[in-house]
Amino acid sequence: MNDVGEHYRRLLAPIYVWMVGGAEAALERNRELVRAADLAPRGSARALDLGAGFGATSIALAERGWNVTAVDTSDELLAEFARLAGALPIRRERADLVEFAERARERFELVVCLGDTLTHLPSRERVVASFDAFARLVAPDGRLVLSFRDYVTKPLEGAERFIPVRSDDRRVFTCFLEIQGEHVIVHDVLYERGDDGWKLSVSDYPKLRLAPDWVVAELVARGFELEQRAFERGMLTLQLRRR
Ligand SMILES: C[S@@+](CC[C@H](N)C(=O)[O-])C[C@H]1O[C@@H](n2cnc3c(N)ncnc32)[C@H](O)[C@@H]1O
Repeated sequence: MNDVGEHYRRLLAPIYVWMVGGAEAALERNRELVRAADLAPRGSARALDLGAGFGATSIALAERGWNVTAVDTSDELLAEFARLAGALPIRRERADLVEFAERARERFELVVCLGDTLTHLPSRERVVASFDAFARLVAPDGRLVLSFRDYVTKPLEGAERFIPVRSDDRRVFTCFLEIQGEHVIVHDVLYERGDDGWKLSVSDYPKLRLAPDWVVAELVARGFELEQRAFERGMLTLQLRRR
């Protein structure tokens, strides 16, 4: 099995923007998220986007007046991010998000970790380490927004484990989920049409199964208050405020 970084290099990063329906559509969804969650700066206007990918959330936040620091480990996605961000005030860092959060000295009015990034961490201990760091990083009265898939409450069974992610006349991308204890092994299956016909690439990586109630309890124990909990198309979004 690959680690997360290797999986992104081998298969996911080159098709990531296509997979989410294109950069403009992703940006529009993130602008809507920023509007709907009323994510307007009121204090320092410093925002931190952990696992920022190609920057759709960071860009939407910067357009709304935030001074954004964005962290990701994928060179390919960070390069795409740089192309899309233009002159917006966004500082990009290539770093592991837990290491970055642990060594950061500044405080942020907003910290986001969206799109199932949290489950990419290698162990529950690293998730707990990130929560310890969030408690330090988020300024009093500041907000923390997390979104991740719930692979615990209703484990997928049988044919439900095959997820048709996206397809067009050049690519077909399906994902197969295999539950293994604390992890779900994600098998990404990609067919791409070339001059010689269809080519198959397969790669897998582990994601953590995080129980929503456990995540909330751990964060409440660290001084956060749950303000909003929403569940849409398999993705849970938690919005918390630092007391
Ligand atoms: C599923 S994508 C989500 C991207 C973006 N937040 C979104 O909502 O579209 C997960 C991202 O986390 C990054 N990532 C995975 N593990 C990471 C880690 N330990 N530190 C920093 N970034 C990480 C990946 O490179 C990828 O860009």
